Amino acid sequence: MEATNLVDLISENGITLNKSGTNYKGLCPFHSEKTPSFNVNPLRGYFYCFGCKISGDGIKFLMQHSRLSFVEAVGVLANKANIPLEKKSIISPNRNLDEDEGLNCLKDAVLFYKAKLSTQDGENTANYLRKRKVSERMWKKFDLGASPNDWHGVLNYLKGKNKLVKNLFRTGLVKFSEKSESYYDTFRARLMFPIKDIHGRCIGFGARTLNPEDNPKYLNSPETTYYRKSNVLYGLFEGLSSIRKLRQLIFVEGYLDVIRLHENGFSEAVATCGTALTHNHLKIIKRYAENIILIFDGDNAGKVAALKYTHLLLSYAFESYVVSLPEGEDPDSFLLIKGKDAFEKMLGNKIPALDYLVKETLKKFENSIQGRMQCMEELLPTLSNISDMKRRQLTLMAISERMGIPPEMITQELQKKSNKNLSKLNINGSIQSLSSSKVSQDELWLLQSLLRKGNLWPIVRQHLSPEEFKTPYFKKLYARLLEFPDSVFQPFDPLKLEKSDPRLFQAVMNLLKEEIRIHDFGLSLMRIKERNLELSFRDSILKSESNEERAKIGARRRKEEKKIKDVKLLFDGNSTC
Ligand code: UTP
Ligand code: MN
Repeated sequence: MEATNLVDLISENGITLNKSGTNYKGLCPFHSEKTPSFNVNPLRGYFYCFGCKISGDGIKFLMQHSRLSFVEAVGVLANKANIPLEKKSIISPNRNLDEDEGLNCLKDAVLFYKAKLSTQDGENTANYLRKRKVSERMWKKFDLGASPNDWHGVLNYLKGKNKLVKNLFRTGLVKFSEKSESYYDTFRARLMFPIKDIHGRCIGFGARTLNPEDNPKYLNSPETTYYRKSNVLYGLFEGLSSIRKLRQLIFVEGYLDVIRLHENGFSEAVATCGTALTHNHLKIIKRYAENIILIFDGDNAGKVAALKYTHLLLSYAFESYVVSLPEGEDPDSFLLIKGKDAFEKMLGNKIPALDYLVKETLKKFENSIQGRMQCMEELLPTLSNISDMKRRQLTLMAISERMGIPPEMITQELQKKSNKNLSKLNINGSIQSLSSSKVSQDELWLLQSLLRKGNLWPIVRQHLSPEEFKTPYFKKLYARLLEFPDSVFQPFDPLKLEKSDPRLFQAVMNLLKEEIRIHDFGLSLMRIKERNLELSFRDSILKSESNEERAKIGARRRKEEKKIKDVKLLFDGNSTC
């Protein structure tokens, strides 16, 4: 790493660093923040973020930030420093994706379809692109192509290049017909949009028909080992540098919308590929952007999608906005007809996603007390999905203000909901019925083994308090169990509870009736404590104001970590059940 300066490397990747003592500081690219906690030490060639605690050297930076493999990252650094790599294989611990045959087939297919655009085979497609006013600059930027009207076009071409049919099949480029027992091209006579991963490798295609009568209008690659539609965003590779620079992303619905936006200078536009926006997509976006603008077509489907996505977005720490287009328009047609300035103006009128959500949800119901109750009912699940408590509280306050409902009332309703979920747990008798994201598995396992291992109670009592549980239901249950003397648990006979405390009996039976696998009690206890430490550490770091303070917090954390290890030792050898 000495050969390349880490500060340069990081700056070149769009992160603004300012000198601060011997270090450099900037906004962390790996989590969302407003005040810089990302530190770079150029002498040691090391970066560290006080916020999310990611750390490492230049290779780690490239691997995480640019999603490169180890080999690729080393290659980039060697290149920058003009160090020739003697043999790739020396530093090739992993499968080298460049040598993946499937990816090579896809790469060749892109070239094949692209070349067709300037031949007779692709003439209709080229004309179609011209008719739709897609500039040749965009043909190039997005590697657009034409699949010929031929059942064996790409198939024969790639076979001619010594590609194995089985690899072609794996990429979704060809299909197999049971009837004729032979392979054939998946895409025929369509405008081809190569879909790329974050490194620019083609992993699949979207393909538009030229014939308005054809169904489907867009044919997308099937799910393959390369192409998982809930993980890819069209335009992300092409727009990545803008997205990183602006920390902003514009989400639109279609392939041609993305291209039209890029053409007009909005290179931060992306779309999903023929699928709904999912949590996966948002997690990917989170790496690169803090602001999301959702632009929806001005039709009913667009409105439904907008409402659905704002629900989804609220659980993420994005600044998110919604823009609705006039009836009948999509971003492509709007830009073509009304132009860039009008588009810019419309972007300026974007509505915060939360406002949009409340407004549109209110619209769905009558303007009455009953209507507002229904509206609140609809918003509650979204609120309870926000796992970050501060964020949840702030969102709750914002909703309360917009709906004119006191925050206490919403809190109360939320509480009722979560209680209902808990009693549902009692009735259904299955832990699985609680959505697993809301239940800490470690807390569950810990309680399950505690109920089976009575001899653990005397030590556990001293080292674990109910406050350390995060799943409210388990917290209550544990607190309730602590009220009993140790002797009750040695051995524990839940049947004795049946009459005296039927609810507790029911809860305990629910835990006991599940088979549990061999389980290390000490490990769960340690993980619970470590999780809590992590949470409180983050909290303190966020509130801290100086480096000294942060250093102290760090030192305290290390001390606590040591304590946790000591507690774990108490249970070792004694706790597997
Ligand atoms: P649209 O029907 O809005 O098409 O579908 P579009 O993007 O505006 O395309 P043009 O302007 O008519 O050419 C939006 C997106 O939904 C997916 C595609 O990703 C498309 O871009 N889609 C649509 C499919 O996957 N299959 C379809 O049959 C239709
Ligand atoms: Mn369109």
